[in-house]
Amino acid sequence: MDHLLSVEHLTTTELYGLIQRASQFKAGEVEIPNYQDVFVSNLFFENSTRTKSSFLVAEKKLGMQLIDFETATSSVQKGESLYDTCKTMESIGVNMLVIRHPQNAYYESLEGLNIPVINGGDGSGQHPTQCLLDLMTIYETFQSFKDLNVLICGDIKNSRVARSNYHSLTALGANVMFSSPEAWQDDTLHGAYVDIDEVIDKVDIVMLLRVQHERHEANEVTSFEADTYHERFGLTQGRYDQLQDHAIVMHPAPVNRGVEIASDLVEAPKSRIFKQMENGMYMRMAVIDTILKSRGEV
Ligand code: CP
Repeated sequence: MDHLLSVEHLTTTELYGLIQRASQFKAGEVEIPNYQDVFVSNLFFENSTRTKSSFLVAEKKLGMQLIDFETATSSVQKGESLYDTCKTMESIGVNMLVIRHPQNAYYESLEGLNIPVINGGDGSGQHPTQCLLDLMTIYETFQSFKDLNVLICGDIKNSRVARSNYHSLTALGANVMFSSPEAWQDDTLHGAYVDIDEVIDKVDIVMLLRVQHERHEANEVTSFEADTYHERFGLTQGRYDQLQDHAIVMHPAPVNRGVEIASDLVEAPKSRIFKQMENGMYMRMAVIDTILKSRGEV
């Protein structure tokens, strides 16, 4: 694995390998490699709390040298392109980039780059490390993906998490269904659209998605009614009570409490929301380690 741009580029063997490596880091079963000679920079062109901070912790645990970058104080403000920004980092000795960018498949413009890129989210395209940490969290609970019934609810069309998770979970043998307002359905994903109330007592995993207002038209934002959405598509206490005993609740966060999920349920016993964040740091260690090893940086 030379880069991590999309989960669609990963084989199931690579997916299981990353889950295993992240789990070993989490369990303290392996010595943590020291990449003190590797310089890394996190280029976040969109806001982030979890992804950016957990990459920072992972990079520090791996002993890497962090090169600060903030779009607001960089030459991006003078009109420098993404390619030129990345090529500058490469030229001054940065060995790896983590990039989040609002443009779908931004990485296609970076083909002239000779250092690895980890995609921290591209527009509504892909969010590979979120997907991998979700897979780790599911595997921790079920020790398998085969025939799991997964319901992904919400803003499917604008969600890079939905796209990445649909592809990887399907490849690993799970059945993925969607529940969404018609305007946010995405017919490029081939899972069935269902009524949440018809399946809530049968699913193994209910995965809620944040309503992505920043990717909506202005009229869509003003006409949105949080209470109506919550009653129709959200995880209410009533729906939570119908879940099977073994079922789990996931959300990539940030959470709009009272919209995608009732506030009291964010830390309910079946919720894995903060466990997902914990696993994210170990998964990001595993991704960095796997890429550096495949490039001979050991
Ligand atoms: N889940 C996720 O990507 O969160 P951030 O936007 O805070 O990184």
